[in-house]
Amino acid sequence: MNPVVVERPGAVKLAALPPLALYVHIPWCVRKCPYCDFNSHERAGGLPEAEYVQKLLVDLEKLLPSVWGRRLVSVFIGGGTPSLFSPESIDALLSGARARLVLEPGAEITLEANPGTVEAARFRGFRDAGVNRISIGVQSFDEGMLKKLGRIHSGGEARRAIDAALASFERVNADLMYGLPGQSIDMARADVEQAVAAGVPHISAYQLTIEPNTVFFSRPPKLPPHDACADMQVMIEELLRERGFEQYETSAFARPGQRCRHNLNYWQFGDYLGIGAGAHGKISFPDRVTRHEQAKQPDAYLKGAAARETEVPARELPFEFMLNALRLVEGVPATLFQERTGLPFAAISRCVTQAEEKGLLERDLKHIRPTAKGRRFLNDLLQEFLK
Ligand SMILES: C[S@@+](CC[C@H](N)C(=O)[O-])C[C@H]1O[C@@H](n2cnc3c(N)ncnc32)[C@H](O)[C@@H]1O
Ligand code: SF4
Repeated sequence: MNPVVVERPGAVKLAALPPLALYVHIPWCVRKCPYCDFNSHERAGGLPEAEYVQKLLVDLEKLLPSVWGRRLVSVFIGGGTPSLFSPESIDALLSGARARLVLEPGAEITLEANPGTVEAARFRGFRDAGVNRISIGVQSFDEGMLKKLGRIHSGGEARRAIDAALASFERVNADLMYGLPGQSIDMARADVEQAVAAGVPHISAYQLTIEPNTVFFSRPPKLPPHDACADMQVMIEELLRERGFEQYETSAFARPGQRCRHNLNYWQFGDYLGIGAGAHGKISFPDRVTRHEQAKQPDAYLKGAAARETEVPARELPFEFMLNALRLVEGVPATLFQERTGLPFAAISRCVTQAEEKGLLERDLKHIRPTAKGRRFLNDLLQEFLK
């Protein structure tokens, strides 16, 4: 891959390289959900699992020269629906990755699962392959909601998938969505209570967004009013705090010791390799930060369409850094900006001061973090770093 040089380096000087993670994209699902704009495609017939794993490892090989000597702190196998792949394929993938790159001892390895595609034996197989964290797409336990969302599973199946995952894994996340068509605040509360009662130590709660190129975009369902959705967000934050979960990011809640290390690395502007259809990654060098993106369509990807690599212009780094860091409730150490972007803090000090004056950001000697208002109006806060 040849970097497209957008702006000559010079301004960027990284004293040390950030932690490195690996994202693996599996682009197939049993059925496409009407709200989903992820790079996910309904599977027609069997999946070319062995061929796909081989291609993933080819991607990895091509990226190796850019990360010689670096170790992986985490792996995230996302989708799509990675739980459609057999434990043998996941084993071949992880063995192949380990043969090419050293994983830190105890590295977090997450696999995303759809409740309609898993049972206990499959989870045991994933665990034996080296997976140590499961993320389950529950969305809701309410049968009417699941139907409206076009999900392939019932609430009972979601509960059984959580039980089966917890029998094999200590680290399990449940994805929930709120602000769903026809949902009341009590219904949203019932979903969160059920997830807590099911025993998951991590919950991600996303407000449903209507994305272009989805069925919901062309035929919009009637959603709860904006204020009701804001009330749901506040209710979820309070309820999960009462139940012993710490909110560490806009949508992420964890019991102590259960935060997702892979996602934390994104939010702390760490590096990650992206392999699989449409996957993208970020790699830092002492004098520049680059991004790469794999071909999006699974067929073109499998036929070997080339990845694209670009250099992030230095002037875009402050916004990119903040876009991630300001999602973190506790913010980041002030020194992290220079560490990760290679730019002096002076590059953003005026923006920081202006955001502080608007009550969107606060800082002490060591940290910068969004205020409660800044988290609620995150887009306004980010605007400050576009100026
Ligand atoms: C790639 S999916 C992974 C899980 C798996 N594919 C499944 O759906 O069971 C990641 C998560 O993003 C969330 N999500 C997807 N589309 C969304 C949307 N339009 N608005 C809000 N959250 C969304 C869902 O909670 C979903 O579980
Ligand atoms: S199963 Fe998950 S990735 Fe697949 S279409 Fe539905 S939300 Fe998207």
